[in-house]
Amino acid sequence: MSRAILGFNAYIHDTAAALLIDGKLAAFAEEERFRREKHTTAWPECAIAWCLRRAGLTMREVGGVAFYWRPWLGLARRLGQTVAGLPDTLENVRRVQAGNLFKLAGVRREFAARYGYRGPFFFAPHHLAHAYHAAFHSPFDRSLVLVVDGNGEIASTLVALHEGEAIRPLAWTYYPHSLGLLWCTATEWLGYRQNSDEGKVMGLAPYGEPVFVPAMRRVIRYVGDGVLRADMDYFDYHRARRRWFGKRWEKTFGPPRRPDEPLDDRHRAVAHALQAVTEEVLLQLIAEMTSRHGIRRLAMSGGVALNCVANGRIVASGLLDDLYIPPAAYDAGAAAGAALWAERAGFGGTGREIMPAPFLGPEYSAAEIEAALQAAGLRYEKTPDIERRAAALLAADQIVGWFQDRLESGPRALGNRSILADPRRAETKDRLNARVKHREPYRPFGPSILEERAAELFETGGRPSPDMLLAFPVRAAWRDRLGAVVHVDGSSRLQTVAAARQPRYHRLIAEFAALTGVPAVLNTSFNVMGEPIVCTPADALRCFASTGIDALAIGDYLVRKEGT
Ligand SMILES: [Fe+2]
Repeated sequence: MSRAILGFNAYIHDTAAALLIDGKLAAFAEEERFRREKHTTAWPECAIAWCLRRAGLTMREVGGVAFYWRPWLGLARRLGQTVAGLPDTLENVRRVQAGNLFKLAGVRREFAARYGYRGPFFFAPHHLAHAYHAAFHSPFDRSLVLVVDGNGEIASTLVALHEGEAIRPLAWTYYPHSLGLLWCTATEWLGYRQNSDEGKVMGLAPYGEPVFVPAMRRVIRYVGDGVLRADMDYFDYHRARRRWFGKRWEKTFGPPRRPDEPLDDRHRAVAHALQAVTEEVLLQLIAEMTSRHGIRRLAMSGGVALNCVANGRIVASGLLDDLYIPPAAYDAGAAAGAALWAERAGFGGTGREIMPAPFLGPEYSAAEIEAALQAAGLRYEKTPDIERRAAALLAADQIVGWFQDRLESGPRALGNRSILADPRRAETKDRLNARVKHREPYRPFGPSILEERAAELFETGGRPSPDMLLAFPVRAAWRDRLGAVVHVDGSSRLQTVAAARQPRYHRLIAEFAALTGVPAVLNTSFNVMGEPIVCTPADALRCFASTGIDALAIGDYLVRKEGT
């Protein structure tokens, strides 16, 4: 009889559920997509229900449940840290931590109460959940594993060795030292939202001068043996946490930016320094650990692994033969990792698979799509060649919503719930921002490109980037022909599209190439500012109606705005 293990996370951010059947990921879903609340901390009720429904199981048939955190480890850390930092820390515990600590500690009871579940319940150590997701979904049998995030129960960074069925920790960086929390701190100081807007800081970085790089090297450094150290005088998150940055931070980098204040050279320079030093310390760590262990393959996860610019540098460094990062490298993916951990630690299982394409969410039949179109009172047509029709609209400079097949997981739209545009002219970026996305003008858009032609346009070194997790330099001859997707530093965060994995999306881009000579389209997520990526046809139609998207290609149906 087959074994089903449900992994989930809750209470902190990016809650999600994953269902593993005999070691294989049968379903995975992020709660924010159903609940329509970005980075939600809510109990993953919809995600759990959907995973079970997808697999045709009831909770009675689930053989094990795994949570992505060990609450008592976190409690021990918090206790020690509170005692060491008295009296400042008392306020922090009272105001910020206490509620969550109690919730985390009661998660098993909460699960039992909600579902009447009495079977085995596992608490996976947080960084091992991340590590298992990266390593056991990678194509590697032997690799180094690097987990870098804000923090788990007691650690913020783990270097481990993955050999066959074993993952052996080699080095830990313990809280409060944390590269991820440094990003949270800088994000707050820049007037943005933590655990949400770190990508904006990365996008801002190339606009800054390198004046603060020496100062940032004092904030965090690589001290060898796989360990990072921060100078905690720059921070306050581990003490009272009225604000995340400390006095020395303000003395060094100046006062924080209010959210409504314009960005100036100082803000840009801090973003630049943060990105530069992040790349430096990651490369130092990877260089030492790969040479010490004689391994040139790396599986990476944790929120910091979503830094596609740093990832591109890691690939370009020549330190590795191969790098694998799961698309949901942040905490949502740890739900899948927790299930993989329980499969091994709890049941001695060995089932594994290379991560399937990350299209693991809901899909909708033609009848369901048509019903949603009718309910919205829209005029539409059904067409046998939606790819060619959408490509023609893109070539005519229209903005097209593209909704096909199963919802993708992870923070990037990968061509199943995407908004597409012509990548050729820089003005398209402004038009897209003014009419649909309303993003900060400095933030880049990325292209999706036919995989077989990627190396012709970008310096990829022959590496595919199917999940949009790597940035590469654009070749000089193509810079002017890709004005809407080239960042200020001459790079692009790109997605390579293979016909075997995404036949429909590949066909669309090929049709666009036939019309324009450019084998790429601009691809941004199908949502409006502040909302998660759309999930259902109704979500897509709402987004279509409330923005300046010109046309919507949804399944085989084409909808056009009046007058376009
Ligand atoms: Fe994490």
